[in-house]
This record gives sequence, C-alpha cells and structure tokens, in this order.
Amino acid sequence: MERIYTHITGVQGYLPEFVLNNKILEQLVDTSDEWILSRTGISERRILRTKGLGTSDMAAAAVKGLLKKTDTDPSQIDLLIVATVTPDMVFPATANLVCHKTGIKDIPSFDIAAACSGFLYALSTASKFIESGQCKKAIVVGADKMSSIMDYEDRATCVLFGDGAGAVLLEPSTEPLGIQDVILRSDGAGAKHLHQKAGGSIKTPSRRTVAHKEHFVYQEGKHVFKHAVKNMADVSAEIMERNGLTGEDVQWLVPHQANKRIIDATANRMGLEEEKVMLNIHKFGNTTAGTIPLCLWEYEERLKRGDNLILASFGGGFTWASIYLKWAYQANPSSSSDLSLRA
Ligand code: ACO
Repeated sequence: MERIYTHITGVQGYLPEFVLNNKILEQLVDTSDEWILSRTGISERRILRTKGLGTSDMAAAAVKGLLKKTDTDPSQIDLLIVATVTPDMVFPATANLVCHKTGIKDIPSFDIAAACSGFLYALSTASKFIESGQCKKAIVVGADKMSSIMDYEDRATCVLFGDGAGAVLLEPSTEPLGIQDVILRSDGAGAKHLHQKAGGSIKTPSRRTVAHKEHFVYQEGKHVFKHAVKNMADVSAEIMERNGLTGEDVQWLVPHQANKRIIDATANRMGLEEEKVMLNIHKFGNTTAGTIPLCLWEYEERLKRGDNLILASFGGGFTWASIYLKWAYQANPSSSSDLSLRA
C-alpha cells in the first residue's frame, strides 16, 4: 500500500493588538529593558486585554483566517485539535468552542495539554488521523492566553510570556513531502520546577489559593533553563541523526520561542547558521503553544516546496519534542501577508 503523508497546506496566525513592551514592564516590576533583552531576547509581547475574550477567541480568529485563505468551507474540516494550557474553561474543551465559533460542526475536536510542546504533540496526533485515512482535512491550533495565568509582580516570569494563536491545515498526499518523522518525550519529575499550584483537582480554588497567587505560573527559571537547553538540543540532534541529515541539509529550524539563548544553543548543536533559524521571540515573547505555528506563519513566504524543517520544543511537564517535515507548498504572497489579522 502506498504511504500517505501529512502535508501542511496552509498556516494562519492571530495576535492581539495591545503591545506590552519592556518599558511598560519597567513600571510594573524591578527590571530593565537591558536585562530582559540580554537574558531572553524579548522586546515586546502581545496581550489580549478585552474583557470576556479568551484563548478560543484568538484560536477562532486564526482558524477563520485559515479557512478563508485556503478557500476551505467549514463543512470540509473533519478534525480540530487545540493545543493549550490556558483553556477558556476546565471543560468543555477549547477545541469544542473554537468549532462553534467558526461554523465547524459535528466533528471530533479536543484539546491537548503539553505546554510549550503542545503544538508538536497535537500536530503529531492529527497526522495519525490523516495517515490512517480517517481524516481528509484537519486543523491544528496552538493557542495560549498566558497573561491569564501571569503574576505581574513576579519579575522573573512575567517578562517572558505573551498571548497569541497559530493554526495549520493538514491534508493527506502520497507525495513524499510533509511530516517525515516525530519524537515526543515527557518527564513528570520536572513538574516541581514549572507548574500552576491551584485550580486543578489536587488544590481546588479557594480564597486562600487566590491570596497566595497559586493560580499563576510558578517557574524556577534556572532549573527549567538547564533542562531546556539540553533536551531541546538533544531531541533536534537525534531526529537529524536518525534521518541522516546534516546542518547543510536543513533549511530551517523552527524552535519554540522561550529564550533566545536556548534557541542559539539548539541551532549551534545542529550546526545551523543564524539565518536558518525562525525567530519572533523579540516581538511576541513566549506564547507557549502558539510560538511554532506563529513562526511558520511569519516565514511562510520564504519557505520553498521541499525545504527541510526541524520543529523543536521544550516546556512544562517537562515535555519536549521534535518533528522533521518537508514543506509542501509555495505560498501565494498576497494571501500570506494579510496583516489585518496580525494585530
Ligand atoms: N529583571 C531583572 N533581574 C531579574 C529579572 C528581571 N526580569 N528576573 C530575574 N532577575 C534576577 C534574579 O533575581 C537573579 O538575581 P540574584 O542573582 O540577585 O538572585 C538574577 O536576575 C539571575 O537570575 P536567574 O534566574 O539566574 O536568571 P537567568 O539568567 O537564568 O534568566 C530566565 C532567567 C530568563 C527565566 C531563564 O532562566 C529562562 O529562560 N528559563 C527557561 C524558561 C523556559 O524555557 N520555560 C519553559 C517554557 S514555559 C512553559 O512551558 C509554560
């Protein structure tokens, strides 16, 4: 039987309008533009400030843009997965709400929680539906409203994160492009260094948990950094090695955007020059599940059919992952530069 490959056939992003730059953060916490930029590579991030809007609204905006741009009717979509750790509610799944908001009906839709690796976990999951023949058009969204779980008095954490969403359309093809190989990893022992203390079943919300700020991200940055540098580089090198790729064969590294220093270490290990590394951390910070699809969206016009891409991530869990894919289409410049949805 001929192998079926999962091709990415469209990508779209959404970023909220409000820009939280380092100068504004200097007013909120004891920090400086110089410290943030030199330690993380971040200058500004976008924040969804409109009351009553959540992760599903950013995801739905990206999905609507994707449907329009790829000339796809909502009725043609037969799977939708949202990767997020900031769901609108504990239940129902944000994916169910995104379908409702975009006119997509009666299909399987669910969330995946793998923090910063969420998009790669979701992409891999959706590809199994495509490759088995169960689905013909699937959408995978990476979306997070990190500002909803951020303590804007914790200088070590609040400077890192932003809000945003990115979505890709997946379709089957016998042409050997698209997803070639996947590595997904996790280690729950890392939870103690990066988690949200309250709001789940172990510690339900109470006045005490609110007073102690236990609904915000708790991160021991140094520990997370140490694991991130090693694991993101290891998993990227491993997928290259087992597919016989050298730095010369890879056109693009699409790294999760948590810290420029982690990205540089990964690129170094892979033997890639800076020009081959997708970057948007300076403008958007860490949008958790949103970073990788937002990179693909921004760089879409520069991607050529057949380009070898390595997608790599590390995040809460700990989770880490890499995907090797061959880009499957040449973007139409007029459709991919729709700036109106970017802000
Ligand atoms: N401004 C000024 N000083 C600061 C700030 C700030 N915003 N934040 C921390 N500092 C201070 C610290 O208090 C410390 O001071 P001290 O030496 O007097 O104690 C000093 O700077 C150094 O602190 P470190 O934590 O050692 O700083 P580091 O260089 O490690 O950078 C950072 C911190 C940026 C958080 C880094 O550790 C990091 O990027 N960690 C990984 C983040 C990550 O990858 N997360 C995973 C994904 S997130 C997810 O999955 C949801």
